[in-house]
Amino acid sequence: MRRPIIAGNWKMYKTVAESVAFVQELLPKIETYLAIDKVVCPNFMAIPTVSEVLKDSPLKVGAQTLHWKQEGAFTSQTSGEMLKGYIDFVIIGHSENRAYLAETDETVNKKLHAALQYGFTPIVAIGETKDELEAHLTTEVLHKQLQGALANIDAHAASTIILAYEPIWAIGTGLNAKPEDANRVIGEVIRPTIATLFGEETAQAMRIQYGGSVNPSNMLAYMQQPEIDGALVGGASLKVDDFTQLIKQTAEAKGL
Ligand code: PGA
Repeated sequence: MRRPIIAGNWKMYKTVAESVAFVQELLPKIETYLAIDKVVCPNFMAIPTVSEVLKDSPLKVGAQTLHWKQEGAFTSQTSGEMLKGYIDFVIIGHSENRAYLAETDETVNKKLHAALQYGFTPIVAIGETKDELEAHLTTEVLHKQLQGALANIDAHAASTIILAYEPIWAIGTGLNAKPEDANRVIGEVIRPTIATLFGEETAQAMRIQYGGSVNPSNMLAYMQQPEIDGALVGGASLKVDDFTQLIKQTAEAKGL
């Protein structure tokens, strides 16, 4: 079975002090769930401190993006070189960055190569807009995003990448995709696309999360879907009790 992974994307929430207090409270509640990867992605400000607090613990730290260059005149950006030693995971291609920060399939690909070079596990977010969904373009959009994001990646590296299927219309809206629909898109569109690019073995090995308005009242239904290997969570990852519930329900649904 693919190892489930639950990642909290904190976006621009929580000060350094709040981030530290959160992980100190969360850790004892979830550390026994050893068969599940558990990740928090704090703001860059909090990464060094949170990383120090969680050193050698089973709760891992991720960044919300990175720049592909090692250094340079790129105001506001943070490189893999700077993140090295602090993180294990990095989110790439989040729809908010695609919408507000000019992220494209091409920059996702550059960031992906950089993340792999530094040994970070990338969580690559893909998904269609509401207009694309209504125009029945989901398959086409996901093909294009995957082909662009995964250009010039070899099959071995590809099998270590995590994908997050996040329908954009479901993010932060409370309009979550039906669990069966998310399962179908992953099983009938995303995995077959990966199989075409890298072969069936890689497609079956790759971990694919669902993301978009996941919370403790719908988590169990997502995790019961065989194609869904975890979740990328925004809002519900900001509360200790909710995050704990998400981990517990994953363990329950996957029989771990
Ligand atoms: P949400 O965000 O859980 O608040 O919908 C998900 C995400 O942006 O990854």
